[in-house]
Amino acid sequence: MITILAIESSCDETAASVCRDGIILSNVISSQKVHEKYGGVVPELASRAHLQSIVPVVESALEIANADLAEIDAFAFTQSPGLIGALLVGTEFTKSMALAFGKPLIAVHHMQAHVLANLIQQKDKKNEIPSFPFLCLTVSGGHTQIVLCESALSMKIIGQTLDDAAGEAFDKSAKIIGLPYPGGPLIDKYAKQGNPDKYKFPEPKIEGLNFSFSGLKTAFLYFIRDEKIKNENFVEENLADICASIQSRIVSVLLNKLKKASEETGIKEICIAGGVSANSGLRNAFEKLGKEEGWKTFIPAFEYCTDNAAMIAITAYYKYLDSQFEELSVVPSARTA
Ligand code: KG4
Ligand code: ZN
Repeated sequence: MITILAIESSCDETAASVCRDGIILSNVISSQKVHEKYGGVVPELASRAHLQSIVPVVESALEIANADLAEIDAFAFTQSPGLIGALLVGTEFTKSMALAFGKPLIAVHHMQAHVLANLIQQKDKKNEIPSFPFLCLTVSGGHTQIVLCESALSMKIIGQTLDDAAGEAFDKSAKIIGLPYPGGPLIDKYAKQGNPDKYKFPEPKIEGLNFSFSGLKTAFLYFIRDEKIKNENFVEENLADICASIQSRIVSVLLNKLKKASEETGIKEICIAGGVSANSGLRNAFEKLGKEEGWKTFIPAFEYCTDNAAMIAITAYYKYLDSQFEELSVVPSARTA
């Protein structure tokens, strides 16, 4: 029996999870509210909030899992990428537990973990997981990637964004129409009542499997600016249609490339992951495309899409099986390394 305690602190979520033999026993997330009024995450405030939340979050994860610190076989943490001060809190806290209990330390890459959220087996649920090789569209606030996953510990990026991430495209579009940060979930909410074909936004013309969202963002900015000159209440009067239309374009950009990746690799086991995979428009369109293309599709449960520690724990489990441990001198890295 292998029990792992994992911590995620790369951005504005303080999270802890206990996983036993690949099954998630607890998944506790404390989201930082302090950033809302600034329209984005303020790194120093994130570090301070992690310091305040980390002990209660870990205690709660242990309690829900009915586990004791002395039973933990390995301690895992998000090492990169992320905000350096935020990562430092999780890294040093985890190192001190590993040192105190004399147990192995496991460093996890946040983007690898988003992909492996698809391998999570939930307690009391016999959910199917993808078999290798599979493709994963990982869409978060900082990344947009198509990953070819050969095994849990071997994956390569076959396409990625050249500028903004899909989550940024959502958040920046939301900001343009006056919605608070993070705007992605709000666009999703208003889009449900809107007509996705009302306004047409351009599809970027990018070669291969790469993405670009900055041109779309600029087109959206000018469109809103011009319409507001004609009618100052344009956004308020058409909010649902605007949200549905921009969401529909972001989703079609993502799925057209994913379809291309499947055609080029011949792989039909396809997953999505990352914060934007919580988007209902993307989830529905992905399932629909999957049926048309004869794919076997996988989407992590909602709570494993946005930042969480269960995905860190499952990745750590596979690293544990492969004896991929770190020295106590390990340091976090802000960049993908
Ligand atoms: O993976 P994640 O939680 O954090 C990063 O690693 O970046 O992703 C956060 C991103 C944000 O841009 C947020 O707006 C977006 O995911 N997001 C959504 C939805 N839920 C989260 N975007 C669109 N629709 C949603 N329902
Ligand atoms: Zn993330």
